Amino acid sequence: MGQPTHARNSQEWWRSAVIYQVYVRSFADGDGDGTGDLAGVRSRLPYLAELGVHALWFTPWYLSPLKDGGYDVADYRAIDPAFGTLAEAEKLISEARELGIRTIVDIVPNHVSDQHPWFQAALAAGPGSPERELFHFRPGRGENGELPPNDWPSQFVGSTEPVWTRLPDGDWYLHLFTPEQPDLNWAHPAVRQEHEDILRFWFERGVAGVRIDSAALLAKDPDLPDFVEGRDPNPLVDRDELHDIYRSWRTVADDYDGVFVGEVWLPDAERFARYLRPDELHTAFNFSFLSCPWDAGRLRASIDTTLAEHAPVGAPATWVLCNHDVTRTVTRYGRTETGFDFADKAFGTPTDLALGTRRARAAALLSLALPGAVYLYQGEELGLPEADISVDRIQDPMYFRSGGADPGRDGCRVPLPWVAGAPFAGFGSREEPWLPQPAGWADYAADLQAADPKSMLALYRAAIRLRPAFGDAPLTWLPAPQGVLAFIRADGVTCVVNLADTPADLPPHTQLLLSSGPLDDQGRLPQDTAAWLRA
Ligand code: NOJ
Repeated sequence: MGQPTHARNSQEWWRSAVIYQVYVRSFADGDGDGTGDLAGVRSRLPYLAELGVHALWFTPWYLSPLKDGGYDVADYRAIDPAFGTLAEAEKLISEARELGIRTIVDIVPNHVSDQHPWFQAALAAGPGSPERELFHFRPGRGENGELPPNDWPSQFVGSTEPVWTRLPDGDWYLHLFTPEQPDLNWAHPAVRQEHEDILRFWFERGVAGVRIDSAALLAKDPDLPDFVEGRDPNPLVDRDELHDIYRSWRTVADDYDGVFVGEVWLPDAERFARYLRPDELHTAFNFSFLSCPWDAGRLRASIDTTLAEHAPVGAPATWVLCNHDVTRTVTRYGRTETGFDFADKAFGTPTDLALGTRRARAAALLSLALPGAVYLYQGEELGLPEADISVDRIQDPMYFRSGGADPGRDGCRVPLPWVAGAPFAGFGSREEPWLPQPAGWADYAADLQAADPKSMLALYRAAIRLRPAFGDAPLTWLPAPQGVLAFIRADGVTCVVNLADTPADLPPHTQLLLSSGPLDDQGRLPQDTAAWLRA
């Protein structure tokens, strides 16, 4: 404990780093037009350094029509003018590095924007053309080709829309997400070549890592057969061909000491771990931890499974509580259903924010004490809740593709509050932010929290500063009453989290390093509270 820059300069920094996810559009608006941008991020680098994070993951900042928040990329080598320029991105990467903060970019290999030159060329070239071979174009089924080529499910959970769109020339094309995101054909050598060139392009610009979007979806069964639940192999998810792709990517990354983090949503722990073999991806997001309910037994099982599945492949675990796709942590923990499932999202779910916040504070200390890397989503350190966005302001395609049943993901993407007394809570200056900030948003402002030792921000700053310095070395569980999690790390620091409904005695210790809330009169740890102790 007590070495704030523990892994920043070591070679395998990613084994224990705290990585902060920047959703550029909503982080800070430097030019006052209502949209966050790179100038805004650059102006807030001192804040990020003070928070103590080791790396920033930027959600896609490339040229994009923003039909899916930038996950519809029209040019992987250009910054969207709404965010800035390539020269500015280069400056940002080097300014951050001077502060000891590395940069991770987000590559979207499964699909491109329908405005990407490849797709535009494919549209123009017509059926049967080599340009169409870069995508999945097919004639339809039915007497006149009026039915989609297969029945695959949308990868937007809750979508009632098909994953095929028919063109006036009769061909259909595949898009696992929106029609503006046509899927690439990864069996085509030009697709592989292009992406390896894109990786090199960004590594050459000094990025330390790459987040891989929808990493388990790229390869498809070339026959595009119908989807049959449980049939192995799955025609569209987690196909064996993917491992060859990532082995090849790994050789590119190794030339630059670059690191990968895969977005791999897979229920099967063994299949998940295959992506983390020593010659494939370095890390992947731990969605089972993110989805886990606030329950001691379930959390302990999730932690144990995570550590057990990573150990044989030698990869460090990651710990994630939320991101730009899921319900914000304080809101999720304040509901009856405290686990996350896309299928459960609904308008008007009752939420106890005080309860959720108490639990989120405890969860912060839990995840920051576990062995491995921790991902922190912008605003999590401010304890921001999920916002209710009125339907006339919703932009997320998940809402529209569910026929209005799913509230979508805009509620976790609201522009950040920086300065309580400033217009738009200091997010920008002239124009209203692209998503409305709810009433009371300024109460969460970073400047207020920086001055309040009891704030969520103060807790995160203190925890990151104190965080164990021993990387991903294992933990040892300690005996604890029902509903209480207690473990000790190799340097003698114990983490105790009380999820029981009665206060818990602390195990023997010499020092209370940090707690997520006050102890009770008898020095016990109250419900939904966590503490770090020196044993
Ligand atoms: C996962 C991203 O996190 C999400 O925001 C996006 O909609 C899909 N992949 C499609 O790219």
